[in-house]
Amino acid sequence: MKKITIAIDGYSSCGKSTMAKDMAREIGYTYIDSGAMYRAVTLYALKNGLFRDGKIDVPELESRMDDVRIAFKTDPATGRPDTWLNGQNVERDIRTMEVSGHVSHIAALPFVREAMVRQQQAMGREKGIVMDGRDIGTTVFPDAELKVFVTASPEIRAQRRYDELKAKGEQVDYADILCNVEQRDYIDRNREVSPLRKAADAIELDNSHMTIAQQKEWLMEQYHKACAE
Ligand code: DC
Repeated sequence: MKKITIAIDGYSSCGKSTMAKDMAREIGYTYIDSGAMYRAVTLYALKNGLFRDGKIDVPELESRMDDVRIAFKTDPATGRPDTWLNGQNVERDIRTMEVSGHVSHIAALPFVREAMVRQQQAMGREKGIVMDGRDIGTTVFPDAELKVFVTASPEIRAQRRYDELKAKGEQVDYADILCNVEQRDYIDRNREVSPLRKAADAIELDNSHMTIAQQKEWLMEQYHKACAE
């Protein structure tokens, strides 16, 4: 079967990565979580003291972008790709509330987006890739054969994030998470460079009341249709 490019965009915590990961494994494609790349840059900035009083030292970060080396390596135990930053596995560290609270500001910086988009396009050159994010169907792969735009209500997304963090043993508060989800929606939708929006040719999926199995079935149907076209 011919290899295609699959772009899965949508709001934060709406289950995009679960869908994308499962599908990639099922069809033998590479899965890339583009949000993890913005999270890794955020972790770099936090670890290197580039946030002061919540503000980013933008010129310093820009001058150090070549020092931010991001890679994905498959964990043999889970079969899933982990995010590495400068030779260290940071898969857990990039999912904390601290990183979530700062990442939208980093993802709004044009020089960060340029660097990430360049790397993402290089990763997808051979097709056979499922990438999830906010601008994959609009900016990274505007010619993707299958584009999906996923939505769910902010309350449902906050509950999912809450359950996920609790399961990892983190002390979290539902109200804080809902506030973070709403803030990120606002920043992602209103930033100047590549704001979050549905590509004209993307198929919308509201998964508020769908199970993971239902989503998977729906997505596989779309994949088979896209391959047949
Ligand atoms: O999907 P996520 O929540 O891990 O994404 C983290 C942040 O990165 C989120 O605030 C939006 C941003 N992002 C982006 O701007 N463009 C992408 N392609 C992916 C994520």
